[in-house]
Amino acid sequence: MHPSILQVIEQKKNIRQKLCGIKHRIGIYSAKGGVGKTTVAVNTAYTLKRMGFKVGLLDADIDCPNVTLFLGVEGRFSDEYPLKPVEHDGIKILSTAMFLDEASKPIVWRGPLIGKMIREFLENAEWGELDYLIIDLSPGTSDAPLSLIQLLDLDGFVLVTTPDRVAAVNALRSGLMAKRLNTAVLGVVETMSDGTPKGSATVAQELKCDVLGTIKFSRKFSEFADAGKVPVDEDDEIRQEFISILKRITG
Ligand SMILES: Nc1ncnc2c1ncn2[C@@H]1O[C@H](COP(=O)(O)OP(=O)(O)OP(=O)(O)O)[C@@H](O)[C@H]1O
Ligand SMILES: [Mg+2]
Repeated sequence: MHPSILQVIEQKKNIRQKLCGIKHRIGIYSAKGGVGKTTVAVNTAYTLKRMGFKVGLLDADIDCPNVTLFLGVEGRFSDEYPLKPVEHDGIKILSTAMFLDEASKPIVWRGPLIGKMIREFLENAEWGELDYLIIDLSPGTSDAPLSLIQLLDLDGFVLVTTPDRVAAVNALRSGLMAKRLNTAVLGVVETMSDGTPKGSATVAQELKCDVLGTIKFSRKFSEFADAGKVPVDEDDEIRQEFISILKRITG
């Protein structure tokens, strides 16, 4: 076998051993930007915590990390190595934002470095025992999702789309990529919805998977994000939407 393939197999074995305390790993994903991936990832993590699970949240959007912005987390890594996730509201979080002195500082890295950073977050971080590791992905069908699929035994991806066709086509791209690489699609979540599945219905039909639920369009999402508050902790209707989605995933 080619040495580079052997190297990937070896890395995957190490990571499997390293992450054996994590029961489930779920990627929140769409090839399209701005559809609500981070919003879904953060609220999914907080809903699972409310349901009594031990949760970790990995910001795999390495060059444009947003998880800590949504949470108003100022946490920094300590100098310790292996890396220690920062614990916030009882959730263990890792993000490249925790390397930055200023949140607005750009991270200008080429693909191989992005993959290396994701590997660090998996191989050289102390996640400990978790029921769920929720992974917030960047858009695209290249570096970040590819690295995750290569390195991690994912339970699968939750695809995120808005009602419109462009978002649905991009979510479909993500799903087809996952399937081509033998990774499961757990279902589709429709954000910024009017309550009736549209984009998600198309994607689910094409991929032969379920619509996990819809999250209605609400300005409250941006308002809570700007205030560093988590919608499922603040708003009953949004909380119920996420609980219904999470019951389908955990069930
Ligand atoms: N259901 C919703 N209703 C209204 N606004 C929403 C909803 N969900 C998310 N938003 C808003 O849409 C914007 C984009 O959301 P978010 O950052 O989660 O998308 P993303 O897919 O992670 O983007 P990126 O590809 O840049 O990482 C944010 O301002 C967020 O507050
Ligand atoms: Mg995002």
